Amino acid sequence: MISLPELLHQNLKESNQLHLLQFWDALQENERVALVEQLQAIDWKLVANLAVQGCGGSAMQIDFTELEPPRAFRSDGGDAEWTIKEAVDAGTSAIKDGTVAVVMVAGGQGTRLGFEHPKGMYPIGPVSSRTLFQIFVDRIKATCARYGVAIPLYLMTSDATHIETTEYFEANHFFGLPRELVTIFKQGTMPAVDAESGKCLLASPSSLALSPDGHGGTLAALHRSGCLGDAEQRGIQHLAYIQVDNPLAQLCDPTFLGHHLLSKSQMTTQVVKKRYPLERVGNVVQVRERVHIIEYSDLPEDLANQRQTDGQLRFWAGNIAVHWFDLNFLKKSLLRADTLPFHRAVKKVPYLDSHGRLVKPAAPNAVKFERFIFDLLPHAKDALVVEADPRDSFAPVKNAAGAETDTAELAQAAMCDLHRSWLADAGVAVSEGVKVEISPQFALDALELATKVSPRETITEHRFFDVDRCIPSND
Ligand code: UD1
Repeated sequence: MISLPELLHQNLKESNQLHLLQFWDALQENERVALVEQLQAIDWKLVANLAVQGCGGSAMQIDFTELEPPRAFRSDGGDAEWTIKEAVDAGTSAIKDGTVAVVMVAGGQGTRLGFEHPKGMYPIGPVSSRTLFQIFVDRIKATCARYGVAIPLYLMTSDATHIETTEYFEANHFFGLPRELVTIFKQGTMPAVDAESGKCLLASPSSLALSPDGHGGTLAALHRSGCLGDAEQRGIQHLAYIQVDNPLAQLCDPTFLGHHLLSKSQMTTQVVKKRYPLERVGNVVQVRERVHIIEYSDLPEDLANQRQTDGQLRFWAGNIAVHWFDLNFLKKSLLRADTLPFHRAVKKVPYLDSHGRLVKPAAPNAVKFERFIFDLLPHAKDALVVEADPRDSFAPVKNAAGAETDTAELAQAAMCDLHRSWLADAGVAVSEGVKVEISPQFALDALELATKVSPRETITEHRFFDVDRCIPSND
């Protein structure tokens, strides 16, 4: 039987977590090995610090009296010092030069959506039923084809989503994206602690209650998995970051990239106007020349409700989690991966009590710790905020059917509306109530679509415009 490494015992003792060994004597060899492995992967000094820092509130050390709305310009030109054509040209040549890769985060469990698989497997296509993953891969393939270039995809999963996501991509032959362009890597975990005592919880006699370390874990995970090194070797300089849950995310949009490049920003973020004061989006704000994102749950309600003299919300800029990162900035920020603050969320976490019985709490009992990738923004030089039109950039899939906002049905309607407007621009009418969906492989944007459809047509039945053909749907 293996015995407990001395140093580990010491660490647990110093961080007041010796109770994690309470079932040690009764464990089988393989269980002991598994427990030791888990315990050794944890930074106990960090856990001890977090546990004593209290269990509620925000990680942001911000004086709210200093908050300003962000300086932002619109993607269609706005107040930039360069023309829109210059932005498009700069973005296009960076893509053509093969300096761009995609980071997609898909480690969340989609609990709110009530979908029992990784969210990326949700069949979101309003006519095609294609999944979120497939739609993004189609977009990457179409961009590769348009610019004659290879764009790597770094896809982040978590313990909860890794195996199913990997099997899904393998079973579907990576949806036609060359295998060597796709890396699926796993984010880290953090132990959940009891909200009162700060002690880590056991999920079983030989395992801790762990949860994903937040998308702020992307940075360390990109490094640990070798993705940053891989990107560097391939000559990548710019990383497009998106969340898997927004089928309208403008992945690798040359205009947005061009603004990022021409402003020499180390991190650029896209925002939309918030629809209402307490919308569940992060608030993009400025504090003394630095851009910050303050989560909806952390912004005091009176500030969220403040309006300007023209009636517009003062803090109007909603985070849609679409960013461009300069690769060198990410590399330098690696040193900061350990100083990105941890945010705390008090949640219901099942745990083993001291008699070894599994307790399923009726009320929140534990604190989970998460880092947020957008906390890198205040550290980024010349961070830029670009406003987009939500109609062609934001349709989040968050909530189960029946909710008022952010459901799959609403996202599907937004996709149909956008594609209907592209068709209208091309002179094609779509009958009332008819759903249309355009695969990125058929057309990446309205201009491309106009070269592929005949004006004066009227579409009278649901239709999916796929790569080489238009498929009427029987639905
Ligand atoms: C998130 C943003 C919010 C933004 C909104 C836009 C945070 C904290 N908030 O809110 O500012 O306005 O999206 O839609 O991000 N994920 C991981 N690993 C994790 C946690 C999350 O990969 O450990 C991924 C999820 O798979 C998902 C994304 O990050 O793709 C967002 O996570 P979620 O928890 O759904 O954030 P929201 O509360 O919706």
